[in-house]
Amino acid sequence: MSAPAPLDFAHRFVPGKSSRTLLLLHGTGGNETDLISLGRVLDPEAALLSPRGKVLENGMPRFFRRLAEGVFDQEDLVRRTHELADFIERAAVQYAFAPDKIVAVGYSNGANIAVSVLLLRPETLRAAVLFRAMVPFLPEELPDLAQVDVWLGAGNHDPIIPPSETRRLVELLRNARARVTPSFADASHGLTNTDVEAARLWLADLAKGIR
Ligand code: MLT
Repeated sequence: MSAPAPLDFAHRFVPGKSSRTLLLLHGTGGNETDLISLGRVLDPEAALLSPRGKVLENGMPRFFRRLAEGVFDQEDLVRRTHELADFIERAAVQYAFAPDKIVAVGYSNGANIAVSVLLLRPETLRAAVLFRAMVPFLPEELPDLAQVDVWLGAGNHDPIIPPSETRRLVELLRNARARVTPSFADASHGLTNTDVEAARLWLADLAKGIR
C-alpha cells in the first residue's frame, strides 16, 4: 500500500471533546493561529483545523488570488477550492475526525473560499459560519445544499461588502436549498463582539444536532 499523501497546507490541529470540527479560515494577511481563540469561543468542545492560505499578496497569506479588491482570479479560485477540499479530506483521515461534521468558520477571504467550497465541493461541509462573505462566482449548476446550515454575519457599514451583496449571497445559497440565517450587525468589515456572540449562540443551537 502506498503512503497517504502528506497534508500540504501549513496548519494547526487542536483535538476536541465532541465529534464536530471547526475549519478555521482566516482573512487576507492572517495565518493558521489567528482564529484559534475565536474557534474556542464559538465552540468549546469542537476540534479545530486551521490551515494557512497558500497564496501570497504582497507577503500576506490568502486562500486564492485576486486581481483587485472583490475581483477574483476565477481559475485560481477553482483550483484552490479543490486543493483545500482535498486537504480537508486527508486531514480527516490523518487526525481521525468525522468528515461529515465539519463546520467552516471563515472571515472575509476565508469566508469567500468557504462559499466556494460549498458551491464546488458541497459534500465537504455540514455547516458554515461566514463573517463578511460575498458571492465568489455564480456556478453554472447549483449544488444541492439541502443538508447544510449557514450563518452569515454582515456589517451594515461594510465598505467592501454592501448589504445588497449579502442579500445576493443569501439568495444564491437558498436557491441551492441551504438553510441560511443572515445577521446584520451595526458594524464595518471588522469583526465585532456582536457578530461573535450571535454566531456562538447559533452554533450552540446547531451543535445540539451534531454531537
Ligand atoms: C477577498 O479578496 O476575498 C475579499 O476582497 C475580501 C478580502 O480578503 O479583503
